[in-house]
Amino acid sequence: MTQLNVAIVGTGIFATDTHLPTIEKLAHIIKPFAAYNRTKSKSEAFATKAGIPSDKVYSSLEEAFKDPQVQFVDALLPVQFNLEAVKLAIANDKPICFEKPLAANLQQAKEIVQLSESTKLPIGVLENWSFRHAIHILQKEILPQLGDVIGFTYHATGPWNENNKYLATGWRLKPEHIGGFLSDGGVHQLALLTDVLGDVASVSALTKQVQEQSGTDDILFSTFKLKSGVIGTFTYGSAFGATDKSTFFTIFGTKGSVVYDWSPALSKPTITYQLGTSGQSSSGKKTIEVDEVDTFAEEFTNFAEAVLKNDKSIVKVTPRKAFQHLAIVAAALESSKNGGSNVEVESA
Ligand SMILES: NC(=O)c1ccc[n+]([C@@H]2O[C@H](COP(=O)([O-])OP(=O)(O)OC[C@H]3O[C@@H](n4cnc5c(N)ncnc54)[C@H](OP(=O)(O)O)[C@@H]3O)[C@@H](O)[C@H]2O)c1
Repeated sequence: MTQLNVAIVGTGIFATDTHLPTIEKLAHIIKPFAAYNRTKSKSEAFATKAGIPSDKVYSSLEEAFKDPQVQFVDALLPVQFNLEAVKLAIANDKPICFEKPLAANLQQAKEIVQLSESTKLPIGVLENWSFRHAIHILQKEILPQLGDVIGFTYHATGPWNENNKYLATGWRLKPEHIGGFLSDGGVHQLALLTDVLGDVASVSALTKQVQEQSGTDDILFSTFKLKSGVIGTFTYGSAFGATDKSTFFTIFGTKGSVVYDWSPALSKPTITYQLGTSGQSSSGKKTIEVDEVDTFAEEFTNFAEAVLKNDKSIVKVTPRKAFQHLAIVAAALESSKNGGSNVEVESA
């Protein structure tokens, strides 16, 4: 593949810690070419690290999009700026991939979906969880054996981490984006859940703020009804007192069940399943240890291919797909405001 010149805009923590090493790992297809950050000293330091020449460190977001040598933009801005970045991309005929959540609210999110569907440009959301190999195993190997899927329990809880470096970012401390940490991290969980079982139709939820630094509600207990009719529970939050981080997703079918466990205490994530229509007919448990892929490398490879072939249909996580993840968080917050009443998940 040819090397594509990428402009990285928003050179904060995640750009430095994860995107740059990923781009460097994919040196055969992507080259860090230009950078922009609100505080220029940070983009200059980033550029030095990335080998980007100083004349490609821009002073405005727009300049990065206008550079004719830039072949796509990688945006890691506070999410309330994703819409502006998408508008600039379209105005300058530049493919763009940008970090989740899709937007700060559903109104912005709808606009992004409409804009992305009105252009031939590849526009992708960097929802790396959709690239997990475990999703493929669950969907292709396990679910077909479980008969009719009836329900699920999705559980992702953990302790409050007072050393979380992301807490120092101003846009998280005073979130303009709905749900604060509930959408920041919650969309990952919801990408996984919906990739495996399909879209959510309605939600009944109760949310609460436990930690002052979260800036808004940070724990969520809920029940979901999926469009397929499957029902289940979704529990999410990392704002509790001392406890183990515990992440598992159980799916119950008429002919068996499966537990996907990616709790960090495990040496490898596991998928454990048993088949049979009753406890008496159980096949016994079988466990698959999951060799997970580098989901960041996978998402950049996917987007680079779409840019190279100028084919937006290759983009795996489109704004429309990411809309569903944010819309579920929005429905949960709305439900909680109304005492846990059932709220339909909006469509884009
Ligand atoms: N996929 C994942 O697992 C994952 C993990 C972490 C983050 N992310 C995503 O990555 C993105 C960046 O997060 P981060 O943790 O790296 O945050 P961050 O360190 O705060 O980076 C955001 C950057 O945007 C800049 N910025 C702030 N306000 C701005 C404004 N008004 N106009 C233009 N630029 C502005 C900041 O510049 P200053 O230097 O001037 O403040 C900062 O460098 C977010 O979308 C986040 O959701 C994804």
